[in-house]
Amino acid sequence: MSYLLGIDVGTTGTKTILIDTEGKLISGSTVEYPLSTPHPNWAEQEPADWWQATVESVRKVLKQSDINAEAIVGVGLSGQMHSSVFLDQHNEVLRPAILWCDTRTKQQCQWIVKKIGVEGLRKYVSNFAFEGFTAPKIIWLRENEPETYAQVKTVILPKDYIRFRLTGELATEVSDAAGTLLFDVKNRSWSAQMLQQLQIPSFWLPDVYESTDVCGRITKGAAQLTGLKVGTPVVGGGADNTCGAVGSGIVKPGRVLSSIGTSGVIFAHTDTVKVDPQMRVHSFCHSVPHKWYLMGVVLSAGGSFRWFRDTIGGLEAKTEELSGIDSYDILTREAEGIKPGSEGLLFLPYLMGERTPHRDAQAKGVWFGITSRHRRGHLVRSVLEGITFAMRDSMEIIRGLGVEVKEIRATGGGARSRLWCQLQADIYGAPVVTVNTSREGPAFGAALMAGVGTGVWTDLVEATDQTVDVTATTQPIDQNVETYNQLYPIYQSLYPLLKEKFAEVSALMK
Ligand code: XUL
Repeated sequence: MSYLLGIDVGTTGTKTILIDTEGKLISGSTVEYPLSTPHPNWAEQEPADWWQATVESVRKVLKQSDINAEAIVGVGLSGQMHSSVFLDQHNEVLRPAILWCDTRTKQQCQWIVKKIGVEGLRKYVSNFAFEGFTAPKIIWLRENEPETYAQVKTVILPKDYIRFRLTGELATEVSDAAGTLLFDVKNRSWSAQMLQQLQIPSFWLPDVYESTDVCGRITKGAAQLTGLKVGTPVVGGGADNTCGAVGSGIVKPGRVLSSIGTSGVIFAHTDTVKVDPQMRVHSFCHSVPHKWYLMGVVLSAGGSFRWFRDTIGGLEAKTEELSGIDSYDILTREAEGIKPGSEGLLFLPYLMGERTPHRDAQAKGVWFGITSRHRRGHLVRSVLEGITFAMRDSMEIIRGLGVEVKEIRATGGGARSRLWCQLQADIYGAPVVTVNTSREGPAFGAALMAGVGTGVWTDLVEATDQTVDVTATTQPIDQNVETYNQLYPIYQSLYPLLKEKFAEVSALMK
């Protein structure tokens, strides 16, 4: 039997899994690391911590599985998107990496929009300038840490730093390159115009491959540290979102992923490149060679539910601590007894501002329509409904671009409860399915890419057809769909009414 290794360099930790060529999980290990916030809105990590976590998790996976490293035919890498690693001429890390969730670059984004223009952004890179993206971070470094900037010779993404440590190669692949705002998404190559206008040297950026291409082999040094075999091929891999989507079988038109972690993601496969004229959803390169995807991001999806549990649901958190009964399950059961629509109670989940569709860091959470009839169960249900309405905003934009939504695959927190699957089917107005692989996360998709790159499967469609199975289907209930279709326009009307007030409150709180 041959085996494949998937490594996901995430925001809280690195998860490594080993699967066989039927897609069966053999072993897995996650090693966590800290995230530092030296100033409000900053989020940084040490690339050395990612590397240490990779070494440890690979060693643990090999030890647990008790298989010979010779039998591992390929390694695939996945990672947090947009986060920037700055290397000097000796490929040494110059400063902590600036992460995707760091929003220090507001001014730099405004400068980029002014310099390039909205039309230019659409034409050159198919995306708007968001604070988390890579290009504004490079410009921030130029303006704020010129001594460090002067020493930069390479800018790479987290999983590509791990590739460098594993293989000695500086390389990236299309799905992660797409999130830098320096990449011509349509033509799948660095954008010469963008680099020139932003005065970022093109030689700072590594060569770009497709996700399933082999672009390095395990070096002797890395083999000694990890236990992997020297020369094992490492494929391009992908951004965590494309790896998660591939791992759930989002590799064909008509399939859309609804993933609810701390943030929520709606991810739709497209055969041709499609760009929202207002660039509210991202247009990025898929890990399926020569395909693309559209993506909307709700910054505080599962995060809103966690906030509820940790504040209002304190007792459930305590019960979980004492009895091991999942606190989210207790809360979800309370919401099951409440009618769809929470008797007119609406929740806007903008606890960390919002990316899609509002692009507004100052947006805030809101409960609207509280009456004396409402009980705590209504609050829980309205939070779940509000998060799903926010996800529907992305779904509607994607549908509006002519993308067919035939089947929605749920992963993360939204896939774990029957109620949330039903809510999604009713609010999206389409069947929602769960799949057998949803627990493995992006590392699974990365391992499949390694399988394609090393000839186990001919392509990602074959790889997913053979390993990803639908485990349950939830059909929308007509009456609930109608209720939600009546409430959704009211939900949608609240943000524009409150937009200015969010900004005023933010100014007061400074
Ligand atoms: C996507 C994004 C996040 C990160 C998380 O645009 O910013 O989903 O990829 O790792």
